[in-house]
Amino acid sequence: MPPLLFKTTLLERRDYGCASELVFRVPPGFQPHPGQFLHILCDGEGRLLRRPFSVFGHNGRSASVLVREVGGGSAWLRRRMPGDELDVLGPLGRGFDLDGEEEEALLIAGGAGVAPLVYLGQRLRERGVRATLFWGMESGKEYGTLPERLGEEIDLRLATTDGSRGKRGTVLDLLPCGSSGAGFRYYACGPRPMLLSLASRLAPGGLSSLQVSVEERMACGLGACRGCAVPVADPPGAYRAACREGPVFGGEELDWERLRVST
Ligand SMILES: Cc1cc2nc3c(=O)[nH]c(=O)nc-3n(C[C@H](O)[C@H](O)[C@H](O)COP(=O)(O)OP(=O)(O)OC[C@H]3O[C@@H](n4cnc5c(N)ncnc54)[C@H](O)[C@@H]3O)c2cc1C
Ligand code: FES
Repeated sequence: MPPLLFKTTLLERRDYGCASELVFRVPPGFQPHPGQFLHILCDGEGRLLRRPFSVFGHNGRSASVLVREVGGGSAWLRRRMPGDELDVLGPLGRGFDLDGEEEEALLIAGGAGVAPLVYLGQRLRERGVRATLFWGMESGKEYGTLPERLGEEIDLRLATTDGSRGKRGTVLDLLPCGSSGAGFRYYACGPRPMLLSLASRLAPGGLSSLQVSVEERMACGLGACRGCAVPVADPPGAYRAACREGPVFGGEELDWERLRVST
């Protein structure tokens, strides 16, 4: 669907440790695809640029985003109260491709990268695909009771760097032995080092089963400023705007070596 620019009312805010889920009304016909994002005005203190947040949930009348606080814009957004107005542009970008032969999907999230994968998992299950969500975070307290809530909806496995919850280690330590490509669809979102490690684990044969959502810093969100360019494999040396031609890219589309060098 073409993006809509709309003002809406915050219906509910649920706090989970360092993040909050914001639930708000959406206009008729609003139909985001998993992996697409909303560009939200985080006003106050002269902050003019919108901030991108993935669609975390959608039920026809309302949608939600999960906002992790990292700076001024996300802090402002997290402080909104039910009844406050939000200024939203979206849905934007290219989302995940849901079609595939494999009946089993491994969803691999680092930190707030869990947001698009939760919505994706919901859609895959509606299509009869078995989905497991692997989620890595620094510490078990980071996202409060969100893991419990998500665990009621999806098969969830946790890893924490400090070992305070789930398996000690990174999210990649959770993946089943032998999951190096064939037989699974892989969907991932998280910090670039996590995506690089996953890609090198799957390369070369498994990259065709991988889709990643990249978390580039964005300005316009519309493909105009080229501030979010990521290197792609074809044609060699080329870049694509993550906001318009992504944020989801196929594992074979990206030039992983140039991504590694620029990290
Ligand atoms: C397509 C897309 C979807 C996203 N979805 C979500 C989501 O669902 N939930 C969520 O909490 N966040 C998400 N993000 C990240 C979110 O947009 C940023 O955290 C936010 O823009 C930061 O704004 P700020 O004003 O709070 O921080 P700033 O003051 O702008 O920056 C504070 C710190 O955060 C770092 N930072 C800012 N933007 C990013 C980024 N895009 N990636 C990594 N580090 C960044 C800066 O380098 C700086 O260190 C997404 C980003 C993209 C590109
Ligand atoms: S943010 Fe401007 S081109 Fe992507």
